[in-house]
Parts: sequence; structure tokens; C-alpha cells
Amino acid sequence: MDDLRDFIKRAEEMGECKVLEHADWDLEIGNITSWRSSIPNPPVLVFDNIKGYKKGYRVATNLFATNRRTALALGMPLEASGIELVKSWQAKIAKKMELIPPVEVATGPVKENIHLGDEVDLFEFPTPKWHELDGGRYIGTGCMVIMRDPDDGWLNFGTYRVQIHDKSIATVYISPGKQGDLIRKKYWAKGKGCPVAVTCGQAPVLWAASGAAVHWGVSEYEYAGWLINEPIEVTKGVVTDLPIPTSAEIVLEGEIVPPEVDTRVEGPFGEATGYYGSGARPEPVFRVKGILHRNNPILQGNAPNIFHTYTLGTTIKRSARLWTDLDQQIPGVKGVWNVDVCGSRAIIVISLEQKYGGHAKQAALLAAGLANTAYMWRWIIVVDEDIDPSNIAEVLWALATRGDPESVDVIRGCWGTSLDPQLPPEKRARGDLTHSGGIIMACKPYHWMKEFPPSIKPGQELAEKTKAKWSKFFS
Ligand SMILES: Cc1cc2nc3c(=O)[nH]c(=O)nc-3n(C[C@H](O)[C@H](O)[C@H](O)COP(=O)(O)O)c2cc1C
Repeated sequence: MDDLRDFIKRAEEMGECKVLEHADWDLEIGNITSWRSSIPNPPVLVFDNIKGYKKGYRVATNLFATNRRTALALGMPLEASGIELVKSWQAKIAKKMELIPPVEVATGPVKENIHLGDEVDLFEFPTPKWHELDGGRYIGTGCMVIMRDPDDGWLNFGTYRVQIHDKSIATVYISPGKQGDLIRKKYWAKGKGCPVAVTCGQAPVLWAASGAAVHWGVSEYEYAGWLINEPIEVTKGVVTDLPIPTSAEIVLEGEIVPPEVDTRVEGPFGEATGYYGSGARPEPVFRVKGILHRNNPILQGNAPNIFHTYTLGTTIKRSARLWTDLDQQIPGVKGVWNVDVCGSRAIIVISLEQKYGGHAKQAALLAAGLANTAYMWRWIIVVDEDIDPSNIAEVLWALATRGDPESVDVIRGCWGTSLDPQLPPEKRARGDLTHSGGIIMACKPYHWMKEFPPSIKPGQELAEKTKAKWSKFFS
């Protein structure tokens, strides 16, 4: 599967794609997307014939909102359950990473249309205004922002939101400390603008790499090549010389100028938490000097919704990472699930076969402090080994029947974010972004586990035997 179009075609063949015509870019696309994302297994939505725009200029949303499509995007077994996907990803990251550099070719579909100088018009595309209180139209929600480190020459990309302000003026919101932020500051320190190329629709594997925390100095192009075991095909940008994927749908090229040169007020924007946490503030301007796009381009839309519109891939990757980290420290971990809300960071469920007193609490405390999970967690729930942590109904049952409110532990002063809607104004003003986290033992008390009433849940052997014999009647 080479590009976004192939992915959408596969989703169509699987009966998981719906084309909708005549929607309005102004709130309607965002609202339909959000409404449909709240139902189980939502299809991909492809909006065409959008109000005020030519037929063929499309917006695609809810792309990776199901287990099956996440599996398709990441090259995993299509019928796998949530926890099986986590296992499969865990096996992938356990292997040595063999980075594969991209291959450069002279041209590709992305250069079918090239607009430079006065021809640049960011309003050419039916970019949605996603949520009612958004400060504008966001063209970059399912995007990747490509930059080159000016000292060492390696290429980085990350998914950072991009707001349109004018025909050729945009802003890119990058949280302080992200690799993209550190790189652009290196240019600014020399009084230069930072050259960037932003793709707004690309192969799913590239987008998966873009949102992943790949080590400093390692290019996401090479990481994506490793994921699919073949090189990514790129071609030189027209304005910046940065390598861009030949199959990208839309590419914006230009530079992010130093903040002292020019800024615009960025935001507010409906964020992954489901709130407008970070408000609006001046951000340095992205001067767009060239736009490249395929014929009949598809703008990838991944604006946050409260439910799983894009984060399932994140859920799988974060859960696999935590499971691997825990396995290195303690025995008995049977599964991990980072629930698919708030960027898959806030609620973590660990399934554990308790082997000694304090084991369950130790698992939770470890998770609370590990490098990959410490940021933004709110609740850690430990369940027994008979509970599938990726099955929220089972987790709620465990919470209802084994979770004792008396035993909830509160950990104060945890690593937080300005996106946190619960951050009191006075703490925010002081720059204190820390928050409390709660640890819930929704598992049987270790010291009288054996006296706990047996559950009516069928044992594994019986469940598997029944499924093997009767599944065919339900497919
Ligand atoms: C859908 C989506 C939207 C994101 N939006 C932003 C954003 O607006 N700003 C930001 O700093 N990070 C955002 N992130 C997180 C970064 O993409 C992620 O941390 C990535 O690893 C950053 O790359 P870097 O480490 O190379 O800087 C987003 C991630 C996803 C999946």
C-alpha cells in the first residue's frame, strides 16, 4: 500500500468507506466527522463536491478510527483484537531497528501541479473549520512538517497543527522542546528562517512515523522505511530542496521566520484532550512560497474529536512500549492498554497476574514514572489477568466489582501540560503545569484472592473451544 489513495481504496473494498457530497467546509465536515466517530467502527469519510470548491478536491477523515484500519495502516493482521495488535507491535519493536534511507527520484505525482509566488493560495483547498470555537481553518491536522537539522543535515518530521491566516501565511504550532522546535530555533539563532515542507495527506506509514517519538538524529523517513521494509520514494521540493514524498497529496513549502520577524495569533484549536486548553497566543509566521499538489488532491483531516478518530495507532504504539518496559522490570504483565482518549496518555490499564503482595501497586507506580508514560497520565488502573485491558466493558466490570474507592492512591505533582483543562488559572499563570494522578486497584486483593467469589466468566479453554466450533455461524 503506497499512498493515502491506496489506503482509501482498500478501506472501500473492505466496505469501510463512505463518500459524502455537498458538505460545507465551515463546521459541517468537522461536525459530521465528530458525530460519526462516536459510533463503534466508524467508516472512513471522504467529502467531495465541498461547498464552494471543485469536485475532486476532497477531504478524508476518520481514516484510522478502527482496529482493522489501524492494522491495515501499520501492516498488521486485519482480524486482530486490540490486545493482539499491541502484541504484534511489541514483537516489531523488539527487533533491531534496521533503518532504510529514502530513494530520491526526479519527479512524481506530487509535482502534477506547482504554484509559486503570487499563484500561492492556501484557500485553494476546502480546508475545514473543524470546531465551533477554533480560531480559523486548520489545513494541517493529518500533516507532517519536514525540516533539516542545519548542523548535522539529518531530516526530521513531526505532526504539528497548521492554521491558515492568509493566502500565503500560516502558523505551525510546535510544543516547546519537540525536535521540530529545537531544529527551527537553530535557524533562528543564526537570524535565518527555517525551511519547511508540510505534507497534508501522505502514505499512512509516513504519518505513523510522523507522530512517533523517533530518537534525535534519526530521520522518520528511515524509520518509516524500516516499518515497511522498503525505501520511501522522495523527490526534491521546488522551493526548499527538502525531500518530499512523491505520493504526497498536497505540499506547502516555505519558511518559518524567527518570532521577532513576524507573528500571528495562533488558536484556539480544539485539542486532543477534547478542550481548548492552550488558548491563543502569537506564533512565528510560516511564509508559504510554493504549493505542490496531485490532481484531485485529498486533504487528510485528523482534527481531534473526543473519541477515536486518529489515536488508535498511538494507543497500540504506546501500549506496546509500556508493556515492553514493564516486562523488563516485573513479572506477570498480561496486557497493557492506553485508552484511546486524550492522545492515549490519560488512562492506562494494566492486566497483571499478581505474584506477591504489592505487585499490582508496583506495576502502577512504575508506569506512573516511566519515560514514555509519565507525561499527562491521569488514571492508572490495574486489573487481574482474566481481564482484557483493551476491552473497556471488561475493565468497567472489574472497576465495578473489584475496584475499592477506599484504596485509590493520589500521586501529586505529576508531569503535566498546558493542554490540561483541569489546570487552575492561578497554577497556569505561575507556569506550574503539574497535576495529580489516581491509581486504582481494580483487581482482587492479593492476600485473600483465593477466597474471592469465582466469576461466571468462562475459562480460557472453554471459551476457545466454543469459539472454534461456533464462530462460523457469526461471521
Ligand atoms: C494527530 C496529531 C496531532 C499532533 N499535533 C501536535 C501539535 O500541534 N503540536 C505538537 O507539538 N505536537 C503535536 N503532535 C505530537 C507530535 O507529532 C509528536 O510528539 C512527534 O513525535 C513530534 O515529532 P518530533 O519529536 O520529531 O518533534 C501531534 C500528534 C498527532 C498524532
